[in-house]
Amino acid sequence: MNVKGRDFLTLKDFSPQEIRGFLDLAAVLKAKKKAGERMDVLRGKNVVLIFEKTSTRTRCSFEVAAHDLGMGTTYLDPSGSQIGKKESIADTAQVLASMFEGIEYRGFGQSIVEELARYADVPVWNGLTNEYHPTQILADMLTIRECLGDERGKKLVYMGDARYNMGNSLMIGCAKLGLHFVACAPEGYFPGEELRRECLAWAEESGGSILFTSNPEEAMKDADIVYTDVWVSMGEPEAVWEERIRVLSPYRVTMDLMRMAKPGAIFLHCLPAFHDCETGIGREIYEKYGLKEMEVTDEVFKSSYSRVFEEAENRMHTIKAVMAATLGVEEALCTTTK
Ligand code: CP
Ligand code: NVA
Repeated sequence: MNVKGRDFLTLKDFSPQEIRGFLDLAAVLKAKKKAGERMDVLRGKNVVLIFEKTSTRTRCSFEVAAHDLGMGTTYLDPSGSQIGKKESIADTAQVLASMFEGIEYRGFGQSIVEELARYADVPVWNGLTNEYHPTQILADMLTIRECLGDERGKKLVYMGDARYNMGNSLMIGCAKLGLHFVACAPEGYFPGEELRRECLAWAEESGGSILFTSNPEEAMKDADIVYTDVWVSMGEPEAVWEERIRVLSPYRVTMDLMRMAKPGAIFLHCLPAFHDCETGIGREIYEKYGLKEMEVTDEVFKSSYSRVFEEAENRMHTIKAVMAATLGVEEALCTTTK
C-alpha cells in the first residue's frame, strides 16, 4: 500500500487492497501498543483536529493515536475557530496546511471536507460528515475480522435509517471488501440510487452483494453482523424524533431479532447508542414518548452478541493506521523495535 500524501475523505476513493492495507496496518499497530512498543516515529510533527460537531470516540482516537505516533495535536471545537463564519474554507485550509502535517475535519456537508482537501497540501482526514463516516468503517471491519475471521462473504445487516453517514459508508465498505450488505429499513430510508449503483459495481468485482428490504425476517436470515445507529443524527432538527420513532420502531434490534441471525452472529453499533434512560436525550424521549430504548434494546446492547466496546477501541488503532499511512511512515512502523 502506498497512500502517502493522500486524503482520507470516503472509502469510495480507495481500492479493496488499500482498505485491507489500512486494516493490516491497524492490526500491527494494535499488537505493538498491547506489547508496550514505542511507535513515535512522527516526533516533531503536528496535526489539527477540527470538530464542528461533538465527539467522544473520534476526538480521543485522533488525540491518542497522534500522541502515540509522537505528534502534537491542536483541537478546534465547534465554537473555537473562524471556519466558515469569518474565514472561508479555502483560506482556512491554506493557513492550517502551513502549520500542520495533517488536518482532521468533523462537520456537516461532505463538500466542506472536500473543499478543505482541495486547498490544503497536506492529508485531510474525514472524522464524519452528514454523508460519510469512513474511519468508523475501518474500525468495524477490524472488529469483524477479530470476531469472525476474514470479512469476505460475511453478511452484514444494517437496521434503521440507512440514508445517512453510517448506512452509506457501510454499504461502500461492504461492497469494496466483498461482504453481503443488507439495508433493512422502511421505504424511503435507503441509501440514494446513485451511490447504490456505484456500490453494485464494486460488489460485482469483490463478490459481495447489496439488498434493500423492509422485512426484518428476510434481512436477518444467515446474518453474521447486525448493525444499527441512532435514529436522529447530529445536526438534525429535534422535530424529526416523532416521525423517526413511529417509522423506525419496527426496526429496533431486539433479542428476538438477534435470534433470527446465524449462530455466532455479532451486534455492532458505531456509538453513542440510546439503549436506556441514562442520557439526557434518553430521559427526554422517555418523558415525551414513554420509550426506554430506541434503536437497540438494553438487553442486546449488554448481551454476548454485543462487541461494541471492542469496536470503539478499534477506532483508535484504525485512525492511527490512517494517519501513519497517509503521512508515509507505514514502513518505518513495521520495522521499529522495542
Ligand atoms: N462513533 C463515533 O464517531 O463516535 P463519536 O461521535 O463519539 O466520535
Ligand atoms: N449517524 C450518527 C453517527 C454518529 C457516530 C451521527 O451522524 O450523529
